[in-house]
Amino acid sequence: MLNGRRILVGVSGGVAAYKTAYLVRRLVEQGADVRVMMTRSAQYFVGAQSFAAISGHQVATELFGAAGVSPHTELARWAEAVVIAPATANTLARATHGMSDELVSATLLATTVPVVFAPAMHTEMWDNPATQRNVAVLERDGHTIVGPVSGALAGGDIGPGRMAEPEEILQTLERLLAGRLRGVRMLVTAGGTREPIDPVRFIGNRSSGKMGYAIATEAAASGATVTLVSSARLPAPSGVTLIEVETAEEMAASVAELAAAVDVAVMAAAVADFRPVAVTATKLRRTDGIPEIRLEPTPDILAGLAALEPRPYLVGFAAETGSIDKAIEKAISKGADVTVANDVAAEGSEFGSDTDQVALIDSQGKVDRWPLLTKREVARRLCDHLAEQLRQPATKG
Ligand code: CTP
Repeated sequence: MLNGRRILVGVSGGVAAYKTAYLVRRLVEQGADVRVMMTRSAQYFVGAQSFAAISGHQVATELFGAAGVSPHTELARWAEAVVIAPATANTLARATHGMSDELVSATLLATTVPVVFAPAMHTEMWDNPATQRNVAVLERDGHTIVGPVSGALAGGDIGPGRMAEPEEILQTLERLLAGRLRGVRMLVTAGGTREPIDPVRFIGNRSSGKMGYAIATEAAASGATVTLVSSARLPAPSGVTLIEVETAEEMAASVAELAAAVDVAVMAAAVADFRPVAVTATKLRRTDGIPEIRLEPTPDILAGLAALEPRPYLVGFAAETGSIDKAIEKAISKGADVTVANDVAAEGSEFGSDTDQVALIDSQGKVDRWPLLTKREVARRLCDHLAEQLRQPATKG
């Protein structure tokens, strides 16, 4: 699948650079046209000449004084995908902040193609909040992070921080370049809605919106055209059209407008089921006594979509506490093609966490339990599922 594809490999300064030599060899074996660029510190670990011999091309190491007029923009435009392996904490930080004072960072800033980072560093550096923040920003910007894995590190230490194996990086590149959702139009809802009581207060819920954003990010990185209707107040992921809403009513209106023009709708939002009947124009005051707030139901957005004919492939969510039985009931009754159930009372799946343990339930109630995964990994698997389903339109309800 990589035959003839133009892959730019960026090497930064870590001992895992020796594994990158093998990655380049595997890419060449697959028929890819590979160019390598290196930071100065990378050259302490593996010589540029090794990469030149394996890739069959001169290695780019300098922003200034090299043969080309503008090596970073030339490489950035040439590549169909970029992989940074190993990606050191420093290189991740530089990429996060859009720095451009050396060749690898400048090329990253200049490119518009998919970028895969394969971090490698000591556990303490990986766990440091600064690195974790940087990785989260890079993911939000639409880049793909593969690894690190747990294992032996430089200096005899053992722990998370080891670069992912070349084979895994290769597969990630194949997946990205295949664009498994290319041409698919997708609508994703995210966040907890806010139902106003007065100009100051609202009824809300604990949903962070992270799951919906992870799905939108992953789908866009897989080639889908994604519109995200969100009440989460987070910045738009790269390549995604964001429509900001606040209430269930506004979310329902946006979804209704978009529904006919999408192939898939992923309803990850935690929509309020009830809202105050009346919103007071001025702030409720303590001195006015205890207010009685009457509630009325909000529109069921998912049910509205399920009733459309024809309708998009529909992914529902079911946030439950405890037993999965309620989620199975919902999966069968609500009309979604597939339901993602999670137990928000379980460890690692709480509202706001970066991980989730979910089960995929089909419209007949058949359950496929997934292990505890990062939200991005859940999103990745969900996109795999969607790509598979959209290849078999006959199974659509
Ligand atoms: N949903 C919706 N509109 C609503 C409420 C929920 O579209 N007014 C969608 C959610 O986005 C989610 C699914 O329905 O995909 C299930 O939401 P959930 O709140 O778990 O289920 P409810 O049907 O509201 O049932 P309950 O709250 O009673 O458990």
